[in-house]
Amino acid sequence: MTGEAAARAAEVWKIYGHGEAQVHALRGVSADFQRGQFTAIMGPSGSGKSTLMHCLAGLDDVSAGEVFIGDTRVTGLGDAGLTKLRREKVGFIFQQFNLLPTLTAQENILLPLAISGRKPDQQWYDLVIKTVGLGDRLGHRPTELSGGQQQRVACARALVARPEVIFADEPTGNLDSRSGTEVLGFLRGSVHEFGQTIVMVTHDPRAASYADRVVFLADGAIVDEILQPTETSVLDRMKNLDNEARAAAPGNAAAQNTAGQNAAAGGNAVEETPDA
Ligand SMILES: Nc1ncnc2c1ncn2[C@@H]1O[C@H](COP(=O)(O)OP(=O)(O)OP(=O)(O)O)[C@@H](O)[C@H]1O
Ligand SMILES: [Mg+2]
Repeated sequence: MTGEAAARAAEVWKIYGHGEAQVHALRGVSADFQRGQFTAIMGPSGSGKSTLMHCLAGLDDVSAGEVFIGDTRVTGLGDAGLTKLRREKVGFIFQQFNLLPTLTAQENILLPLAISGRKPDQQWYDLVIKTVGLGDRLGHRPTELSGGQQQRVACARALVARPEVIFADEPTGNLDSRSGTEVLGFLRGSVHEFGQTIVMVTHDPRAASYADRVVFLADGAIVDEILQPTETSVLDRMKNLDNEARAAAPGNAAAQNTAGQNAAAGGNAVEETPDA
């Protein structure tokens, strides 16, 4: 048993490439993501946020250390075990929605269950659909939906299988502020009302303020944490971290972009497609 953690990283290192081109994307990251908690991960571009999420979700292997989803030790699982884990225990929400264009909203939502040969729990499905507020749009294809509606379909798809944990990489990065607010409200509701566990990467202090906890990454390491964040407390902490980074490496100041500036850059344009 790994206690109450839905996901856990223990001394995780991730090193890409070899020799001169080597990148230490994660340098000994240890973190617990408690059941029924909404955690935001923040940090400058290139600080390792997506890498940490991909390692936690079993989309990428670690160079050293261990990762757990619930009681399952992800590290060392073979391909079959990883496929099963991603189908049954993990949900994904991406910046680019990643819906299948030929399927309707409803078919997209039910796809992960269909693939793993599971029947939806009708009551749960109805509740998710009601909460996500898609109403009469369920028969529409993604191209016939607004960005906010598409992301709500992706949220419902992640939630309907009741995974141990949902990983969201900048889920509001492509949304206007109103749609973003709807999606964030839905994510927070699924945590506080349904006990879902969510880990969300974001550059946006307002998005982070919806979380119960914010973890700050810099240069592949966790450098800070806030509980019960507000937009102001997140912004303050970001400024402090930025100042500390400048002080620690004056020659490097230009490279230490603030997360706020990175938001404009939009983060990763291409994300890995979930196993679905
Ligand atoms: N497949 C890869 N091969 C080599 N280097 C990689 C690979 N993926 C990520 N990196 C490097 O690892 C570091 C961390 O990248 P990561 O994508 O985790 O950053 P991030 O915090 O998510 O950034 P952003 O906010 O821009 O999305 C970066 O220096 C990046 O260039
Ligand atoms: Mg990223």
